[in-house]
Amino acid sequence: MTSHFKHSWKALPSSFKALLSQLCGWAAIWLIGQLGLLPDGIWFLALTQGITATAAAAMLQSARWWLPIHFTFTPLVFVAHALEVPPGLWLAVFIAFALVYWSSYRTQVPLFLSNRQTARAVAGLLPPGSIEVLDAGAGIGSFLAAFAQQRGDARLTGIESAPAPFALARLRTRKHPATTIILGDFFARSWAGYDLVYAFLSPAPMPEVWDKARREMKPGSLLVSNSFGIPGVEPNRIIEVADRRRTRLFVFVIP
Ligand SMILES: C[S@@+](CC[C@H](N)C(=O)[O-])C[C@H]1O[C@@H](n2cnc3c(N)ncnc32)[C@H](O)[C@@H]1O
Repeated sequence: MTSHFKHSWKALPSSFKALLSQLCGWAAIWLIGQLGLLPDGIWFLALTQGITATAAAAMLQSARWWLPIHFTFTPLVFVAHALEVPPGLWLAVFIAFALVYWSSYRTQVPLFLSNRQTARAVAGLLPPGSIEVLDAGAGIGSFLAAFAQQRGDARLTGIESAPAPFALARLRTRKHPATTIILGDFFARSWAGYDLVYAFLSPAPMPEVWDKARREMKPGSLLVSNSFGIPGVEPNRIIEVADRRRTRLFVFVIP
C-alpha cells in the first residue's frame, strides 16, 4: 500500500508537482496568516514559503534538483522586486529558455552536446559506402556537423523539437548538401530507412526509443545511444570514447 502510494506520486508529471509544491508553500502562508501568526516583513514570508514548497516537493518525490529551485524561487522573486528588475527582462529570459528547452519539461531530455571524438567513434561503426544516419534529437547539430566531416558518403538527417537549437543546427549544416534538419518530434517520424540512429537523450525516453527502433528499423541496422543504456536490454557492444568526459556509447544491433 505504502509503496503503491509512493509510486503514484513519482508517476505524476514533474511540472504538475512543481506547481503543487509552490501552491503548498502559499497555502502554508495563508494558514499562518489565518492564525494571526504572520510577522511584519516579507522575508519570513518568503523563507516560510520556500521551506514549505521544498518539503512538499520532497514529499511528492520530485527529482532532487527541484529542491533548491523551490527553496529559492519565492525569495528570488522578492529580491528581483527589491532590485526593480524591469518585468520585460523576465519575459525575455523566459522566452529564450522556452525556445532552447521547449518540451524538456515533458520529454525530460535537456540540451547537451556531442563532441568530435564521439562522432568519430560512431562514424567508424559502419563500413564505407552510402549510408543513412539519423540523429534523433539533433540539438544544435554538433553530432551531425562532426559526423559529416568523417563520412562524406553519408546522408544525414537530424530531427529536433526545440526551435532555437533547430535553427542553429540548420545554420551550421547549411553547407552540407547531404544533411537535412527537420523541426519536429522524432517519435512521430519513421526510422525505417536508416542504417544507424544516434540518440543522446536521457534515461527517460530510452525504453520508448528501443521499442520504436525494434519496430521500425531493419534487421542489422544500429541504434547507438550516447551515455544511456536501455533497461533490461544488453548492448551488443560498449565503446569507451577517449574524450574528457569518458563517453560511453551503447551499440544495439537491431534483431
Ligand atoms: C542531449 S541533446 C543532444 C543533441 C545532439 N544529438 C548532440 O548529440 O549534440 C538532446 C536533444 O534532443 C531533443 N529532443 C528530445 N526529445 C525529442 C523529441 N521527441 N523529438 C525531437 N527532439 C527531441 C532536445 O530538444 C535536445 O535538443
